Amino acid sequence: MSENSTAPRSAEAHDHRDRGARLFPGGPSADPAGSHHERRIRSFRPRRGRVTPGQEQALRRLWPQWGLDIDGLHRIDLGRLFGDPEMPVVLEIGFGMGEATAQMAAADPGTGILAADVHTPGQGNLLALAERNGLTNIRVANGDAIILLREMLAPSSLAGLRVYFPDPWPKKRHHKRRLIQPEFVALAATRLRPGALLHCATDWEPYAEQMLEVLSASPDFENTQPDGGYAPRPDFRPLTKFEGQGLDKGHVVHDLLFRRRTD
Ligand SMILES: C[S@@+](CC[C@H](N)C(=O)[O-])C[C@H]1O[C@@H](n2cnc3c(N)ncnc32)[C@H](O)[C@@H]1O
Repeated sequence: MSENSTAPRSAEAHDHRDRGARLFPGGPSADPAGSHHERRIRSFRPRRGRVTPGQEQALRRLWPQWGLDIDGLHRIDLGRLFGDPEMPVVLEIGFGMGEATAQMAAADPGTGILAADVHTPGQGNLLALAERNGLTNIRVANGDAIILLREMLAPSSLAGLRVYFPDPWPKKRHHKRRLIQPEFVALAATRLRPGALLHCATDWEPYAEQMLEVLSASPDFENTQPDGGYAPRPDFRPLTKFEGQGLDKGHVVHDLLFRRRTD
């Protein structure tokens, strides 16, 4: 396996890209970019979590309208996707079950949230939450967010990026799977507008330290905190499911709020 998490996919991967079968008629694809055949380290573990009947119903009904597969094959026109060319769009990577995503979308209906994850039950859950709460500013992207950033989003197209409680990969041999690395941060910077916020949170102390080190060293971002440290939890970020589990174990949560430089 290549160590390079944002390297172009291999020719072999290209040949297999259309192998991802649909999980439900009209629903998300099992492997939209054929990324199981891509020779690179992934930041997620493929999870086959059980999809409840309610989640499956939501996926069958709402996916054609509000879902998109991260197939790496086309550029997304965010204005068209959200039905408003003026709407600022924030990408959330790894929304899990989507409760915090839905709360943030409800609190800020003027911002579009492009929510990416590979977790099928969570995708169904978030679609059901969006419908139940009458939220029209959420779109659910299925697949690897690195491919979404690299292949499908235009430069300077995002008004923000949220990465809440990314998988901590605590074992040393797995550290290379962590999302927040210099290479990822450099890619993210190209897709964010100048002035856009990159907001990360984690309850895993060594990962928080890595995030602070990587983001502080990036020439593309500046820390919003004058002391160069962690940020207090902003009011706009609700408690997430993984955060609750971490707090129950006595973990300390750190937020990091960095701004894409304007110069
Ligand atoms: C530990 S969970 C946190 C979920 C949620 N943010 C919360 O706090 O409850 C991390 C999530 O990130 C997703 N994830 C990890 N790497 C990803 C990637 N490259 N693209 C999309 N989703 C990813 C995983 O599938 C998982 O659902």
